[in-house]
Amino acid sequence: MEHKIIFATGNEGKMKEIREILGDLKVPVESMKEANIDIDIEENGTTFEENSLIKATEVAKHTEAIVLADDSGLEIDALDKEPGVHSARYLGEDTPYDIKNKEILIRMDDVSWTKRTARFVCAITAVFPDGLHKTVRATMEGLIGYEAAGENGFGYDPIFYVPEFDCTSAQLTMEQKNKISHRGKALEMIKEEIKKHL
Ligand code: IMP
Repeated sequence: MEHKIIFATGNEGKMKEIREILGDLKVPVESMKEANIDIDIEENGTTFEENSLIKATEVAKHTEAIVLADDSGLEIDALDKEPGVHSARYLGEDTPYDIKNKEILIRMDDVSWTKRTARFVCAITAVFPDGLHKTVRATMEGLIGYEAAGENGFGYDPIFYVPEFDCTSAQLTMEQKNKISHRGKALEMIKEEIKKHL
């Protein structure tokens, strides 16, 4: 049987990264739009794993292809793991990230360096045509800086300090970030699971 992978996202940036990492599987990878699947999915799970499973399962109802879906976000220990699964919706979906980031820095004002630990989390679920599914989770560990820095990346990258590189994740190149990122690592893990089903 000819295989195909559909990734449940409308985000072109994610599709580029996904195609790069899954490229050596030699299986076509399509976005939902490319696969003509137009459905709205409510992400009402309480964990990243749950949300990725909800998305992948819903999309799999519309296709015979292998379906992948991810859910990601930032967990800040001093803020009780906020914004967590609400990362995209934190302070409102349409609020610019410089405002979200400023607010986090203000809330963290009196938190000492060693207590500023945080992580980006990414869960990815694969649903296979036989109905079996597998969910993986990976993280990128770091600290919330005292000020925003860097122009690369997106979202919370400017306030996320990466000890390994002594800079924020918005100061990493895309290649550097993909190697160590939560999404990069989760994609490598799910790739191994897909290989078992080809
Ligand atoms: P989703 O997985 O597309 O729902 O995105 C979740 C949200 O988490 C994004 O909108 C960002 O706010 C945040 N996020 C996830 N990954 C990253 C990252 O690599 N850098 C910065 N923010 C991220």
